[in-house]
Amino acid sequence: MPSSAAQDFRCSLCGNLLEFTFRAADLGKACDPQALKSLWLNRCGSRNPLDQSGVWRFREFLPEIAVEHAITLREGNTPIYEMPRCARCANLDTLFAKHQGMNPTASFKDTGMTFAASAAHQGGFQWVACASTGNTSASMAAYAARGNMHSLVLIPEGKISWGKLSQSLDYGALTCQLRTDFDGCVRILNDLVRQKPVYLLNSVNPYRIEGQKTAAIEMMEQLAWDPPDHIVVPGGNLGNSSAIGKALLEMYELKLITRLPKLSIIQAQGANPFYRSVREFQGKKLEAMKAETLATAIRIGNPASWKKALRVLEATGGEVEEVTEVEIANAKAEIGSDGVGCEPASAVTLAGLKKLRQRGFVKRGETVVLILTGHLLKDPDFTIKFHRGDLFAETSFDTEFAHSRHLQRAPVILDANLGAVISVLEEAERNS
Ligand code: F0G
Repeated sequence: MPSSAAQDFRCSLCGNLLEFTFRAADLGKACDPQALKSLWLNRCGSRNPLDQSGVWRFREFLPEIAVEHAITLREGNTPIYEMPRCARCANLDTLFAKHQGMNPTASFKDTGMTFAASAAHQGGFQWVACASTGNTSASMAAYAARGNMHSLVLIPEGKISWGKLSQSLDYGALTCQLRTDFDGCVRILNDLVRQKPVYLLNSVNPYRIEGQKTAAIEMMEQLAWDPPDHIVVPGGNLGNSSAIGKALLEMYELKLITRLPKLSIIQAQGANPFYRSVREFQGKKLEAMKAETLATAIRIGNPASWKKALRVLEATGGEVEEVTEVEIANAKAEIGSDGVGCEPASAVTLAGLKKLRQRGFVKRGETVVLILTGHLLKDPDFTIKFHRGDLFAETSFDTEFAHSRHLQRAPVILDANLGAVISVLEEAERNS
């Protein structure tokens, strides 16, 4: 229905977000867990672009979209890394990170976007649109370009990283920087889609959630279908936690896994409406807030998918945590020290894990997987300021940040002189 008014994906009766429901019975004969596991694994050796995608490879687990509409950049297929230094920081025996920043546009958004952009193509839409803190827009712009569709991006002016902004420009989006925050951009977009035939590609779109489920399926495959005890994700608009939780519950129902990992959600203290909803109001309501954090990807005060996230939190027995700005910055450097790295929003996972560990919710010998949502190079400004020591200059966090010196590696500027280089090398050797 190309020219019909685009939807906001909410039920017209109760106002809740729509979602796909999935029943094992729908799969019919294909429901045999062993057969599915081998089918998915065998596709890894195929030359078919859809089989090479870490999303479309799991298509039996997703709603149907006709193959001729599929837009893929071979997303997914992201690595799972052991993180020994981070494990020590969190006082754990072993720790893993699944790095969704290793996707084509360098964030987890690609796994949902390949699927939802394909749905837009199948619907005959010429324009797609999103409000974003930067990663959704970069991803949407790329997939729209690949699918020969136009894209409209609404982002908050001045509060997104240059890396993300530059992606949407190069991929050809019409990019509007609005003088508001993310929540303000969402309000404008919701009004816009009621008037114009543009297809909404925020994570309220249930196709996005379906595509993002595959990160959890791929993770289980990588762990030989032996689920970890805990999965820890950052919480912003709460689409990702909803998607991963939905996948866990469906895999459990289908007997692809025989145990449910606990899914825990971490927010920045300055953007913690979900944390407060759970802790202060037992999830009965969510109070929107004015969000403020240097982890700009999750600077969100009114998360759309909070009810879905609450459901998976409760169903898996997970926890919520909040972390300070300095805790996020330190955790990001620690993730970097394992040779992996991520953007600030992803680092809330390690910062939150340390707290869950201190509280005894996570035990020393348990297996934990952090979901790293975005690549280190998304926000180099943050990283450079951290290492130069001026990330929190003239803010109330500066005193706390003074204790982070041991993590800072400011570049050393020297004359082009061998002796000078040797002397800093020798000093580093003495200190190592
Ligand atoms: N991490 C990164 C790097 C993100 O970009 C986002 C969200 C999140 C975590 C939170 O995920 O919203 O599903 O809870 N970024 C969105 C955007 C809002 O517009 O790029 P969530």
